[in-house]
Order: sequence, then structure tokens, then C-alpha cells
Amino acid sequence: METIRIGLMGLGTVGSGVVRILNDHQDDLSRQTGSRIEIRRVLVQDKEKARDIALPSELLTQNAEDIVGAPDIDVVVEVMGGVVQTKGLMEKALRGGKHIVTANKDLMALHGAELLAVAQEHGCDIFYEASVAGGIPIIRALTESFSSDRITRMFGIVNGTTNFILTKMSGEGASYEDVLKEAQALGYAEADPTSDVEGLDAARKMAILATLGFRMNVALGDVSAKGISSVTKEDILYGKRLGYELKLLGVAERDGDSVSVSVQPAMVRKSHPLASVNGVYNAVYVYGEAVGETMFYGPGAGSMPTATSVVADLVAVVKNMRLKVNGQGLSKAYKEKKLQSDDR
Ligand code: NAP
Ligand code: HSE
Repeated sequence: METIRIGLMGLGTVGSGVVRILNDHQDDLSRQTGSRIEIRRVLVQDKEKARDIALPSELLTQNAEDIVGAPDIDVVVEVMGGVVQTKGLMEKALRGGKHIVTANKDLMALHGAELLAVAQEHGCDIFYEASVAGGIPIIRALTESFSSDRITRMFGIVNGTTNFILTKMSGEGASYEDVLKEAQALGYAEADPTSDVEGLDAARKMAILATLGFRMNVALGDVSAKGISSVTKEDILYGKRLGYELKLLGVAERDGDSVSVSVQPAMVRKSHPLASVNGVYNAVYVYGEAVGETMFYGPGAGSMPTATSVVADLVAVVKNMRLKVNGQGLSKAYKEKKLQSDDR
């Protein structure tokens, strides 16, 4: 059975979930892909850090070149975050014929179009299901299931951290600061949680959804964003008394060629299903001209739900690789790399 060699960049909340799923589901993944998916190298910042995931220490590296520049890596799984350095590394990986799976919405919202162009030029795939709404397969729904339809509107809760905070402030009267700390400890929040609480993370996700759903390039700068940092317990309790729950909502609408995308806190009537989306859960309504109303619901952040999406992308990449190997379209760089390193 062929081995597909993975370079994992990041071994934090998401990366450790990816390792767990690859270890626990190896047989099932092999049956689906006809290949053995093997982690060959793992990039971290600090090799000496204590970790609760069992991995041979010789797999760890602090040098990204050991992955993006290595001939014996077929697929890069980027779950380290960051934009500027990460973009350069992803470009290098693609130019070397490596496919990419990423959970990085900052990168994809800002530079997705450029990276996809580089990928296409080099016959590589980039998949990024985990970048929006964690374990919910919303990107696959927009790009595959609804490829037959014209999407007119999408709205919902796309940030787990802020929904976790608002739920606990509403239900338990907890303080904003305490619940934010809890969300960070659970691995839901971004490295800099300002992007969660100021609505930037949700804005990045809405830019990605609008770009894919409306099939036009929606830049992050076109999304207006307001977060929840100025929301008080009193705002939430007044809303509740009047029959509303406060939620951070992303809204994307298309009217002909014009698109508007925004993120803001909103009072949602308790009878509306979004009012019952609690904790780290996300939910997105998608309206299509043909399909009508659909709703996607599930865990929006966290180690295992997010890793589920990452590994599903990995399976898709490996299936595509097999199709390319069996058919035409195999990238020149991949063929050369494969010849050099098949027997390692
Ligand atoms: P995290 O827990 O902070 O883990 C980041 C990992 O990357 C760590 O292992 C860190 O190494 C490594 N790393 C970071 N910068 C590095 C650098 N410059 N060089 C080498 N290694 C580096 O982050 P995370 O929560 O897993 O998130 C990772 C990505 O997934 C982000 O793009 C995030 O937006 C996205 N995402 C996260 C979630 C979630 O629920 N957490 C959900 C969806 C998407 P050390 O371990 O040595 O520090
Ligand atoms: N910080 C993000 C959130 C992680 O809370 O939704 C998932 O994208």
C-alpha cells in the first residue's frame, strides 16, 4: 500500500487532534483512500515543551524548511496559524508540488485567491474546510453540494469563542473576563483573542463564505465588523427579559452584482433556532434560489471537531492524488519528487 507522507505544521489544539484522529482511524482512512497516511515531520516552536500527545520526539522540528523544502513530504497540513511567514511557507510548499490542508482563515481570507492561483499553476490542491465553523462541513456544502444553485444569503453564528462567552454570560451570569479565560483554556480562542471578541475572526470567515457562496472575490476589507467586547451583562439580561438572546451574527447578502457582508452583535428572538445555539456551537443558514432555506449546525471550534474537518480534507487530497497518479494531470514537481524519494 502506498504511503502518503504528511508534514504537520503545528501541534497545538488542532494539530494534536489531527494526530489523534490519524492514529485512531488509520485503518478506516486507509480503506477509504487506498493509502497509508503517515506523519513524517511535525513543526513546533518549542521541541522541549511538555505535550499530552504521544509522538516520537525525532518527528519534531523547529525548522519549517524540514517540511516545506523536504522532498519526502507529499502533503503539508498547516495548523500553526499566522499570515506573513505562513503565506511564504505555503507558497514554497506549493512550488515544490506539495498539496496543502489548512485551518487558517486569516491566511485564506487575506491571501486565498493568490494561494489558490499558485496551487493551480503547480497542479496542487489547497483545502481549508476547518477554516470556517470548525467541524461543520460548510465549505464543502457551498463548493460541492450547492454548486448547482445560486446562493443569495447566508447568516449565522461563526465564532465559537464569542458564542461560548455570550451563552455563559446569559445562562450563568458569568463575567466576560472569566469566560474568555475559560474559552482560551479550552483551546477555542485564537492565539490573540482580540480577533474573536472584536468580530475579526467572524469577519474572516464571512469573507470566505461570501467568496465561495457568491462565487466572487469578497475582500476582508469589504466586511464591516463589530464584536462583543463592549457588550455588558446588563445588555444581555435586558434582552432576555424582552424575549431575546444576544448573539454575534455574520450576515452576507447578494443582490445582483452587489454584496454586503457584516458581523455584529444582534438580539435574536428566543423562538428563532439561532437563539438556542449555545456554547462553542455554530450555525449557518444558507439560502439558495433553488434549494430554499438550509441550516448547518455543529461544534465551531475545539480540538477534535476541527481536526475532523482537517483530516477529511486530507482524505480528499489523497483521493485526488490517486486520481492524478492514475490519470493525467500529475504535477511535474510531484513526479520528480516521487522519483527522488519513493524508496526512502
Ligand atoms: P495553537 O494551539 O496555538 O497551536 C499552534 C501550534 O503551532 C503550536 O504547536 C505551536 O508550537 C506551533 N507554531 C505556531 N507558530 C509557529 C511558528 N512560527 N513556527 C513553528 N511552530 C509554530 O493553535 P490552534 O488553536 O491549534 O490553531 C491553529 C490554527 O487553526 C490557527 O490558524 C487557527 O485559527 C485555526 N483554527 C483553530 C481552531 C480551534 O478551535 N483552536 C478551529 C479552527 C481553526 P508550540 O506547540 O511549540 O508552541
Ligand atoms: N477562535 C475560533 C472560534 C476558532 O472561536 O470560532 C474556530 O475557528
